[in-house]
Amino acid sequence: MPTEPIEFLKVEGLGKTYAGSAESVFDSVNFNIAQGEFVCIIGHSGCGKTTILNVLAGLESASTGHVFMDGREVAGPSLDRGVVFQGHALMPWLSVRNNIAFAVRSKWPNWGRAELDLHVQKYVELVGLTGAIDKKPSALSGGMKQRVGIARAFAIQPRMLLLDEPFGALDALTRGSIQDELLRICAQTHQTVFMITHDVDEAILLADRILLMSNGPQARVAEVVKNTMTRDPDKGRQRATLHHDPQYYRIRNHLVDFLVSRSKDLSHGRAPAQPLEVSPGVVEPEPESIPVPLSSTTVTPLRRTA
Ligand SMILES: Nc1ncnc2c1ncn2[C@@H]1O[C@H](COP(=O)(O)OP(=O)(O)O)[C@@H](O)[C@H]1O
Ligand SMILES: [Mg+2]
Repeated sequence: MPTEPIEFLKVEGLGKTYAGSAESVFDSVNFNIAQGEFVCIIGHSGCGKTTILNVLAGLESASTGHVFMDGREVAGPSLDRGVVFQGHALMPWLSVRNNIAFAVRSKWPNWGRAELDLHVQKYVELVGLTGAIDKKPSALSGGMKQRVGIARAFAIQPRMLLLDEPFGALDALTRGSIQDELLRICAQTHQTVFMITHDVDEAILLADRILLMSNGPQARVAEVVKNTMTRDPDKGRQRATLHHDPQYYRIRNHLVDFLVSRSKDLSHGRAPAQPLEVSPGVVEPEPESIPVPLSSTTVTPLRRTA
């Protein structure tokens, strides 16, 4: 008998209510992520995005519902899931090399010095920090620290990468170049990613699907937007050409409309528990014009009046 395909990550009926609060922050949150997929979640501040990410990481427990990865329930933190936090959360007394080595050693405790060094160097190079490998975090710019956080998360080769607004504090130029690096690394490694962002353009550039979260209380994933612009690294969506694709504006307007008005209207559990998947980038073809019966098109010739 054919069995249903197992979604790589499955979130079922997730809810969180803090003690002393009558209403939940969010409830009935349902979504799936396929292996190799890049999924962004956007929603107003306070709707529970970080809480959801922490539950996926196994760092926090939900009040209701379940998270399954590869069919197994997530019940605590694991080196299968790499997290890049909103702040970079580096150890200030360790160099770039040792911040990353610390994480790598916890994943592969039996590795020798040479093997460990080689692995760390590879990921430092991947994020363009070879020249700063022996510097401490205090000697690095914000963008460089964020790159260390990304290298550290990638270096443990997690099956799932969880990113909480990782570029929020960076200037536009730095953010752009790190986004490009992230896209390149993900294309190389077929990394599965769940990322929180408040930047609609970032979501359209990076994500294959975008989860729209309604406002709390009782926030939900109200809708799933499919990014119909292709991910092809050569011909697909790229920062330089994104704005030439008419789909970009349709998707962008859909996301902004949601954030400006619909997210509020759908608070208090008014969003559907099972979100619809929509493709606002694709325009439905116009219905073909219906042929008009000949008789009604017959025009009575005008009579000449003398
Ligand atoms: N320990 C806590 N006790 C009570 N409320 C909390 C606690 N932690 C977070 N919250 C509340 O939960 C909501 C969701 O927080 P969070 O997940 O950080 O949202 P987001 O990342 O979408 O901005 C917020 O309204 C916040 O005030
Ligand atoms: Mg947050």
